[in-house]
Amino acid sequence: MIHNRIHNFNAGPAALPLPVLQEIQQTFLNFQGSGMSITEISHRSIWFDDVINDAIERTKRLLKLDDQYEVLFLQGGASMQFCMIPLNFLSDGKSADYINTGTWSTKAIKEAQIQNKPIKVVASSEDENYCYIPKNVSFNGDAAFVHLTSNNTIKGTQFSELPDTNNIPMVIDMSSDIMSRPLDMSNIGMIYAGAQKNIGPAGVCMVIIRKDLLALCPDHIPTMLNYSTYANKKSMYNTPPCFSIYTIQLVLKWLEDTIGGLEQMDALNREKGNLLYDFIDNSKFYSATAKKDSRSLMNVTFKLKDDSLEKSFVDKAFEKGLGGLKGHRSVGGCRASIYNATRMDAINALISFMKDFEQKL
Ligand SMILES: Cc1ncc(COP(=O)(O)O)c(C=O)c1O
Repeated sequence: MIHNRIHNFNAGPAALPLPVLQEIQQTFLNFQGSGMSITEISHRSIWFDDVINDAIERTKRLLKLDDQYEVLFLQGGASMQFCMIPLNFLSDGKSADYINTGTWSTKAIKEAQIQNKPIKVVASSEDENYCYIPKNVSFNGDAAFVHLTSNNTIKGTQFSELPDTNNIPMVIDMSSDIMSRPLDMSNIGMIYAGAQKNIGPAGVCMVIIRKDLLALCPDHIPTMLNYSTYANKKSMYNTPPCFSIYTIQLVLKWLEDTIGGLEQMDALNREKGNLLYDFIDNSKFYSATAKKDSRSLMNVTFKLKDDSLEKSFVDKAFEKGLGGLKGHRSVGGCRASIYNATRMDAINALISFMKDFEQKL
């Protein structure tokens, strides 16, 4: 353990790369020779302009985005997007298709229904408590977009491949797997992600939006809920969350310069996830809760054969410096969130603790 830090398996806010935290610490009192902290400088200053420009450029390079896409930073979390998406893209009575794979998709669906938008839920895994990702989904040809959650943080399921939507643009909640793997953007109209899992601290939501979707945003909706406002003013119509955006910039720098990009990140994530799932699959004491072909490489959900031992498991793990292993309060069980910043040594420490816990019973 470095600097008395624990192995952090929290689902979000979650672990950030140590070099990023160290750089924040070093620059905190005097940012770029300004004599001020990043939390004190003006968002209209050259210092912050460099930060946001670099964050946008790095996002474009990492995801290989072409000029069709704008990178925006909004507040209100990913949850705000649930209402903004139908508000902006379904103003003219159009319908959209939604895939329901758990709590977050359900919330997104609810926000469209509250607005009386004629959306259709075209697939759902509710019948099996959201432990799988629906396959071979058929979409409605007249849908303005298809909404889905690429990684289900609570249930620990993930689309290993995005569905073929027959050219209908996808709008994807990637809060818990953005920047974890390369993406084929050819059919993606919009991505959004609350930063606090894989790319930064809470307080900012990254939105990557294609210009044809931006063109759908109507004038008659509130200014702060209109994507055009952010696109027209480089996310600075009002004061943006400067510190959160700065942290994102550093995380993206780490991803590009230290990790080497999304292919390399993907390989590392697969190595970590496979090691942990293999251990669980070979155990008679622990069992994974998501179906094998739908498992998330970001959130590994599992149970103990005897669930009365779960509290003791989580408490003892914490004593040993392994934090955040309790499952989401809505589902129970255990969950190890192993986002980009979680290193292989954390996975090894977890597996060794899991073996120990079983043996000492
Ligand atoms: C997949 C997903 N979508 C949306 C949210 C909600 O994000 P926020 O708290 O930023 O509104 C979360 C939060 O855990 C999430 O995991």
